[in-house]
Amino acid sequence: MLKINDPEFLLMKKFIEEHCGIFLEGGKEYLIESRLSDLAIETGCNSFQEFHYKARTDPTGRLRDRIIDLMTTNETLWFRDASAWEYISEIAVPDIIDKAAAGNEVRIWSAAASTGQEAYSLVMLLDEASKKKGLKSIPDSIEIIGTDISSAALLLAGAARYDTIAMSRGLPEDKKQRYFKQAGNIWMFDEDLKKRVRFIRFNLQNSFTPLGKFDLILCRYVTIYFSEPFKKEIFAKMAVALKSKGVLLLGATESARGFSDDFDISYYKNAAVNTLKGGVP
Ligand SMILES: C[S@@+](CC[C@H](N)C(=O)[O-])C[C@H]1O[C@@H](n2cnc3c(N)ncnc32)[C@H](O)[C@@H]1O
Repeated sequence: MLKINDPEFLLMKKFIEEHCGIFLEGGKEYLIESRLSDLAIETGCNSFQEFHYKARTDPTGRLRDRIIDLMTTNETLWFRDASAWEYISEIAVPDIIDKAAAGNEVRIWSAAASTGQEAYSLVMLLDEASKKKGLKSIPDSIEIIGTDISSAALLLAGAARYDTIAMSRGLPEDKKQRYFKQAGNIWMFDEDLKKRVRFIRFNLQNSFTPLGKFDLILCRYVTIYFSEPFKKEIFAKMAVALKSKGVLLLGATESARGFSDDFDISYYKNAAVNTLKGGVP
């Protein structure tokens, strides 16, 4: 493994934060060594200083993107945190279906979609709720986008193919049987439902304006990796990206408190629900 020294750590830390917002405190040298050593060696570098230079001057940006892929933590699972999904299934989904059935457009954003489990968990609930309401399928007026900075994660998300380990993490057996087809050790998500999510590569450091406005944003387990100023920036941009009375859901260990005054924070059972302040219901 290639060792990193203090000046090299500062160079790499700055590079990573600049390109994806991930903030590495002192003490995280091992993370760079363990995740990037092989790539540095593969690209012919004998030190992290050389590697940094190579990444910084690569005109194609490919090396930068591979670094981002390796430095992002794509950990995810189905229906992550029971409390958040109680809110989603008992409050958000029925509301979304009602709005859509009444002819309104509803837009949902999984803003750190990783390999797709979050967005597809929601699609399964929307499908069940639509059928329960006597609809043939999820209304077309519901649009779901999933974004992530990691191209590697998005490839898996778009393929909607999962191995047995991924399948064993949080997915109830009845949904596994209903929504997936098995081919050897791989499980494929329902072809029609898979098309309900559009995955796009998107860096949360960019302006959210091109994405439009949303009724519901899931931005879960990603702000934990960011600096305080970047968290502030993200919450401010999220507020602008929400429609009136739109809702932002964060991971259980994340909070907008102290970073933003744009949200009313309420609790549904144990889930914190961040509703955009003001506007008409
Ligand atoms: C730990 S996963 C969370 C996945 C999912 N939201 C969940 O809660 O299970 C964090 C994801 O955030 C993505 N990410 C990190 N920095 C990002 C950035 N600047 N812009 C967009 N996505 C980012 C990573 O690639 C990773 O897939």
